[in-house]
Amino acid sequence: MLKNDLKSFEEKAGEEIKEARDLSSLDKIFQEYVGKKGEINKIFKGFGGLKESEKKEIGKRANLIKARIEEMVVQKRKDIKKSVEKIESEKEKIDVTRPGKKIKTGHLHPLTIIQREVGEIFQSLGFSIISGSEVESEWYNFDALNVPRDHPSRDMQDTFWIKREKSNDPKKNLLLRSQTSAVQVRYMEKNNPPLRIIVPGRCFRHEATDASHEIQFYQCEGLMVDRDISVANFKAIIQEFLKIFFKKEVKVRVRPSYFPFTEPSFELDINCQNCGGKGCNLCGNSGWIEVMGAGMVHPNVFKKAGYNSKDWQGFAFGVGLDRLAMLKYKINDIRLFYSNDLRFLEQF
Ligand code: FA5
Repeated sequence: MLKNDLKSFEEKAGEEIKEARDLSSLDKIFQEYVGKKGEINKIFKGFGGLKESEKKEIGKRANLIKARIEEMVVQKRKDIKKSVEKIESEKEKIDVTRPGKKIKTGHLHPLTIIQREVGEIFQSLGFSIISGSEVESEWYNFDALNVPRDHPSRDMQDTFWIKREKSNDPKKNLLLRSQTSAVQVRYMEKNNPPLRIIVPGRCFRHEATDASHEIQFYQCEGLMVDRDISVANFKAIIQEFLKIFFKKEVKVRVRPSYFPFTEPSFELDINCQNCGGKGCNLCGNSGWIEVMGAGMVHPNVFKKAGYNSKDWQGFAFGVGLDRLAMLKYKINDIRLFYSNDLRFLEQF
């Protein structure tokens, strides 16, 4: 009886191993027949009533069948692994004719591109690039620039104050700079004329935003000090700059203006590049857009810096980099630069 059982176990196990499709069902078969609680072990446990000679013979056969089943399982395991690998490798086949996935790379913000471009142009005209601090003292942002103590731009409405001492000492009061002009006296105190510098950087003003005004924006200050400098030098430098920047002659308009730190002072408008001068929401339908304030350095500013205004003259200007970027790229709302909208930023 046991002999027949053994024979049929081997055949049944052989069939099942052949049919197994994956490693987990193969393991189950293995446990069922040759595992600790498997059929073969049950045979050994049923030896109780057998003679010694029968135990020997059946035991020998059972061990042989156990070994053969184990061998079949090992072989089948190899076959299954091979076929799985084959399927996987077929799945992974590379079709070199398929279009590749576009890899997204980071790129520069349009304002950074413009800032670098402006820097390169002024460097080619002999200017050095200087940087200043976004947190500035009231002294350098206003007092050193001859801005009267009661000037409205010092008000809470225009200036973001960080710290105002009770003593009201302008050197101790801190603010977010409202203009890159704050670097003028800082630089002149430590450097002797002649000099030509530009200072690109972020400025802050507490004002209502619209298509051409933001509470944070970028300016680029320019300062040239030498002997016999006049408005003609300013016009020549700026016209050359605008020609290189816009890659064409640009119509400019100089309007008399007032800044406490320049005398005479003016504002420079350029023909709106967005609408070609016809009028749009960017230029407030005037056809012109103001891009910079400028003028000849006021003698009081030279005095604060320790320069003798009888020996030295200079011009200074502050150009809005956002406005230049808007004109160059035909963008009709400054707020787009700060909205972090990838649909906008990815176009640059
Ligand atoms: C000034 O800030 C002066 N410091 C410029 C100057 C420098 C005059 C040196 C004389 C000598 P104004 O406030 O006009 O001036 O600003 C200069 C330029 O900064 C503007 O023409 C404009 O292009 C830009 N700008 C000013 N306010 C904003 C704002 N809220 N948003 C965007 N751009 C602005």
